Amino acid sequence: MAERLFQDSPKGSPQGRVKRLRSVVMGGRATGPQHEHLRVDLPRADPLNESSKPVLIAGPAEEGLDLLPDRSVQTVVTSPPYWSLRDYDIDDQIGRDDALADYVKSIVVTFDKIRRVLTDDGTVWLNVGDSYTSGNRRYRAPDRKNRARAMRVRPATPEGLKPKDLIGVPWRLAFALQDSGWWLRSEVIWHKPNAHPESVRDRPTKAHETVFLLSKNKDYYYDIDAIRGPNDRRLRTVWDINTEPRRRVDCGVEDHPAVMPLTLAARCVTITSRPGDMVLDPYAGSGTTLLVARALDRRWAGIELNPVFVDLIERRLAQ
Ligand SMILES: C[S@@+](CC[C@H](N)C(=O)[O-])C[C@H]1O[C@@H](n2cnc3c(N)ncnc32)[C@H](O)[C@@H]1O
Repeated sequence: MAERLFQDSPKGSPQGRVKRLRSVVMGGRATGPQHEHLRVDLPRADPLNESSKPVLIAGPAEEGLDLLPDRSVQTVVTSPPYWSLRDYDIDDQIGRDDALADYVKSIVVTFDKIRRVLTDDGTVWLNVGDSYTSGNRRYRAPDRKNRARAMRVRPATPEGLKPKDLIGVPWRLAFALQDSGWWLRSEVIWHKPNAHPESVRDRPTKAHETVFLLSKNKDYYYDIDAIRGPNDRRLRTVWDINTEPRRRVDCGVEDHPAVMPLTLAARCVTITSRPGDMVLDPYAGSGTTLLVARALDRRWAGIELNPVFVDLIERRLAQ
């Protein structure tokens, strides 16, 4: 029944669908032992076993992944920090201080570790945003969504690119992941009907991000009927999903600058996992994927570097 909530049905207003989804995710909590989670603060040496509770690991993804058992995760739904866009306020975060090539490399290295923990028919949904080169500007205009958290400086223009070039970060990453052995199976355009206006006058206003579907092997678990498009057609590759307003009642979720819509995470989890399967987010942020996994009766594991956000996840889970 929960899965019907996420259908891309033409019936009902988008606001109504998000409201119902929000009430399932937020109201679907329970206090039984099956809903308790284990919090692990790195460094920790002893690995977790297959039957452990849901786990929230505070530390870098590249280290946290080493604790998870081989082939224990069915699907990953994740959004790493975007290159040079947001400051998550902690040392060792990826995307802030590293050059573009280093950013791509660190995600590829982490994804090599994800491959070990994925089941052989497992998949990854990877949401990444793009950005523009700085040209001659070294400052960045304030982030309209969260003025406190935009990067204050822009990195130098990467070699081979020109001022004002769209960098193509998602595709650079996708090609690198293909080269490292992943199957690149789909490019989904997450279209944001409520995208912010932009002040630029020499290109269209950006209103989308990319979500890649990657698989560990050629064949993988994918439920074609789990989510249907309008008129019961098969789901297409353009998904209209509004960004969701961050509200104080969501346990301080407004303190995280890049929260994924519940609807987007729910769609991905529903298509590539079954109830009881393990869902992972190695860059968990405010914990959207984990909350959705729990509401959909999946097991879950999350890794987040910034302990302030780990606390935020725990507040959202306890809400
Ligand atoms: C785009 S946000 C994820 C948002 C999340 N999808 C949500 O809905 O809240 C990326 C997160 O990755 C975290 N992060 C940065 N570097 C990391 C690393 N090396 N390991 C784990 N998490 C990291 C940041 O602190 C940030 O919270």
